Amino acid sequence: MLSGIQPSGDLHLGNYLGAIRNWAERVNEYECYYFMADLHTITVRQEPAELRKRSLNQLAQYIACGLDPEKNVLFLQSHVPAHTQLAWVLNCYTMFGELSRMTQFKDKSAKYSNNINAGLFTYPVLMAADILLYQPDYVPVGEDQKQHVEICRDIAQRFNGIYGDVFKIPEPLIAKTGSRIYGLTTPDAKMSKSVPDGCVFLMDSPDDIRRKFKRAVTDSDRENCIRYDKVNKPGVANLMNIYSTLTGKSMPEIEAEFAGGGYGEFKSAVAETVVSALSPIREEAQRLIADKAYLDEVYRKGAEQASYVAGKTLRKVYKKVGFYQ
Ligand code: TYM
Repeated sequence: MLSGIQPSGDLHLGNYLGAIRNWAERVNEYECYYFMADLHTITVRQEPAELRKRSLNQLAQYIACGLDPEKNVLFLQSHVPAHTQLAWVLNCYTMFGELSRMTQFKDKSAKYSNNINAGLFTYPVLMAADILLYQPDYVPVGEDQKQHVEICRDIAQRFNGIYGDVFKIPEPLIAKTGSRIYGLTTPDAKMSKSVPDGCVFLMDSPDDIRRKFKRAVTDSDRENCIRYDKVNKPGVANLMNIYSTLTGKSMPEIEAEFAGGGYGEFKSAVAETVVSALSPIREEAQRLIADKAYLDEVYRKGAEQASYVAGKTLRKVYKKVGFYQ
């Protein structure tokens, strides 16, 4: 299994429920590689000091979320040069047309219209390299990354079609619940750091979390108001989804639990569930962030282990395309 998150902002509840939470689950069945996709972040301008700090803090948060560095290979993407080396090769096996169709490219080029750089365009190729280097069976991601895993499969199949079985074709692994969490104030757009008011960060204090849920957008329905209806009640459906993912309760069970109650009571129940889930993570991450020597050592070891595996795939690819050994 392999996956990654960009350290372009602080980790939030969407990253946790859609991705990280599912990563630790199969640690005994699979060899697991999880990284911080720092190379990807510079497709959008970053403040260097902030990026450096977040790259270390994100590692502390991965570990605090239950990713034991003894059982998972945790590393920083820029520490393993094979990612950029394979990305160049794969660029030559990826079509301009298929990259033009990527929704994330369309969204981001509209949002950052003064900086539509080539990296933003070829982003999915680097992501394909990230994945294929480790020959994973599964790539656990949220719904929004599914298209990128699909183009990765297309690139791998094209390459294998020419050179034989070089890459394993990976499957996206998308959780049944939690794979698309919407913003608390924007129930029509995914939760993201760009709308901080509606975004619950893993490092938020319990009071901040409570305040954000209090302000969560619902609707003006007065009867049977806690009902799962994604079309007509997207705000409530999103809160129910968060609650369901964390408690394991089904939608009918949640409807029964809050039948006859109002939004205030429901929102505070969801807030408390989130507070109890995130508090131990926040506290453990704070403890780890204070131990820079430990985190540096995890990164050093992670880079070594990742480079070993990635290097094997890269050498095979170089040989296949005809680079003189
Ligand atoms: P990124 O950094 O935007 O998000 C990281 C992970 O969090 C999931 N996610 C969400 N899930 C549910 N609801 C949300 N609101 C939400 N927001 C984010 C994402 O689906 C993702 O799983 N390109 C990737 C990073 C990447 C990568 C890779 C992932 C680079 N190389 C190789 C897997 C494999 C990205 O930008 O994710």
